[in-house]
Amino acid sequence: MKEKSVTPEREKWSGQLGFILAAAGSAIGLGSIWRFPYITGENGGGAFMLVYLLCCAAVGIPVMICEIALGRHTQRNPIGCFNQLTPPASLLAHFLGGGMVLTGIALLCFHAIGWGVTALIFGGLVFWKSWRIVGIMGVVAGFLILSYYSVIGGWAIGYVVKAASNQLTFETVAQAKTTYLDFIGSTGRVIGFHFVFMLLCVAIIYKGVQKGIETACKFMVPLLFIIMLVLILRALTLPGAAAGVSFCFTPDFSKLTAQGVLVALGHAFFTLSLGMGAMITYGSYLGKNENIFASGVWITGLDTLVSVLSCLMIFPAVFAMGFEPGEGPGLVFQVVPAVFHRLPAGPLWGTLFFILLAVAALASGISLLEVVTAYFVDEKKWTRHRAAIVTGIAIFLLGGLSAVSIENWDKLPAIQKAVAACFGGARASFFDLVDNLTCNWMLPLGGLFICLFTGWIWGTRNAIGEIRHGSKNFADVHLLSLMAGLKDDPSHNSSTHPLTLASMWGIFVRFICPVAILITFLHTIGWLNLKP
Ligand code: PHE
Repeated sequence: MKEKSVTPEREKWSGQLGFILAAAGSAIGLGSIWRFPYITGENGGGAFMLVYLLCCAAVGIPVMICEIALGRHTQRNPIGCFNQLTPPASLLAHFLGGGMVLTGIALLCFHAIGWGVTALIFGGLVFWKSWRIVGIMGVVAGFLILSYYSVIGGWAIGYVVKAASNQLTFETVAQAKTTYLDFIGSTGRVIGFHFVFMLLCVAIIYKGVQKGIETACKFMVPLLFIIMLVLILRALTLPGAAAGVSFCFTPDFSKLTAQGVLVALGHAFFTLSLGMGAMITYGSYLGKNENIFASGVWITGLDTLVSVLSCLMIFPAVFAMGFEPGEGPGLVFQVVPAVFHRLPAGPLWGTLFFILLAVAALASGISLLEVVTAYFVDEKKWTRHRAAIVTGIAIFLLGGLSAVSIENWDKLPAIQKAVAACFGGARASFFDLVDNLTCNWMLPLGGLFICLFTGWIWGTRNAIGEIRHGSKNFADVHLLSLMAGLKDDPSHNSSTHPLTLASMWGIFVRFICPVAILITFLHTIGWLNLKP
C-alpha cells in the first residue's frame, strides 16, 4: 500500500489576541514613529492628520481584510497563496501586463533606459506569470525592504547605546546633525548594529510562529505603549507644550495640499504593512474561528493610535523647546535627542525614546523576515531553522550595501556607476534606490493587484465566504443595525440586506480602493502632478 505523504500541521497563533498583537507589531514601526511625525510636520499638522485617518479607514481596513482572508484561506505564504488561487487564464492580467510592456517601450523612447527596461521586464512577467507575480513581488519586497529597514533599525539600537552612555549631549540641532552624520558615516559601526538587528530578527523567527513571533510581540507591543505613555506624559507637562498639541489637533485646511492628501494615502499603505503579503503570511497562521473583520479593524486602529500618539509625544517637546516642526527625516534622530537632552534627566528620556524606536522596528522586521522564511518553508520544504538563518544572512549581506551607500557610496565607484547608468540620478545611493523601488513601486502596485485580484478574480463572494468563518453574523448584519447595537437580534441578521459590512467592503475592494491606490501610485512616480 502506498503511504500518503503527510503535511505537517501548520503552526497557528494561540488565538485572536496573539494574532492582533503580532500583526499590530508588524504595522507599528519606523513608519509610525519616525516617518509619520515628520511628514505631519511638513504637511501642516492637524488637517493632514485628519486625511490620514480617513485613508486608513477607507483604504487600509479593506485591503488589510483582503490580505488576511487570502492568507487564511490558502494557508500559505504570498507566493503559494497566489499560485493556488490564480486561474489558468486571466484576461485582466494579460491586459495589465500588456499595458506595462507598452509603457516600457514609451519610457525607452524617452531614454529612461533603466525604468523602461524594468517596466518591460515586469510587464512581460505579469503577462507570463499572471497573478502569481503578486506573490513573487511580495516575497522579493520583503527581502528588499528588510535589507535597508534593518540598517535603520541598527541606527536606533546604536542611538540607544549613545543615549544611555550620555553621548547625545548637544544644545543645537546643528550639533545634533554633526553627530548624526558622523554616526551614519562610520560604516563599520553601522554594519555592526545592522548585524545585531538581523541577529535578533533571525533569533525570533527561528523559534517559530507561536514561541517566537507571538511571544516576542506579546512582550514588545505592550512595552511600546508603556514607553510611549511615559514619554507623552513627560512631553505634555513641559511648559509651552500646548502649541505642539494644537499643531497636531487643530485642522487648518488652508495648509492642506492635494499633494498632502496623496502623501497621506501612500503612507497609510506603508505603515499598515500592506501590499507585500506580510498580512497574508500572518493571516495564514490564523484559526478559522477568529474574526477577520474585527482583527483588521483592531490592527489598523492600534497602528493609527501609535502614529497619532507619536505626534503627541514629539511635537509638544519640539514646540516647547523652540525647534521647527518641519525638520524632515532628521526629526527623530536630530531634533528629538536635542530636545530631550535639555530636559532634566535627559539621558533617561533619550534612551527610552530610542528603545521605543528599536523595539518598534524589530517587531516590523520580524514580519518581513517571516514572509521570506515562510516561502522557503512552504514551497521549498526547508526547515524553519535553515530558512531563517540562510535568508537572514542573505538579507544582512544585501543590507551591507545599503549601509555603505548612505554616506560612503563614493568608495564603491564601480557599483555606483553601474546603478547610476541604469537608473539615472548619480547621487541616489543604493539605499535610496531600494527604498524608492519598494515603497513607491512594489507596495502600491502590490496593493492595487491584491484589491483587483480579490475583487474581480478570486471574487468577493469567495472572500466573504472565508471571512464569514468566525465573524458570526458580523458580515451579514445590516450596517445600521450593527451601529445601533442590534447585531444579535435575529430580525436584523440576514444575508438579504443590501447594506451590510460585507457589501460595503466589496464595493471598497472592487472600486474605491483600486482607484485611490492608482491615483496615489501615479502621483508618487511623478506621472500625475497635483501640486497646486
Ligand atoms: N509597517 C512597517 C512600519 O511602519 C513597515 C513594513 C512595511 C513592515 C511592510 C512590513 C511590511 O514601519
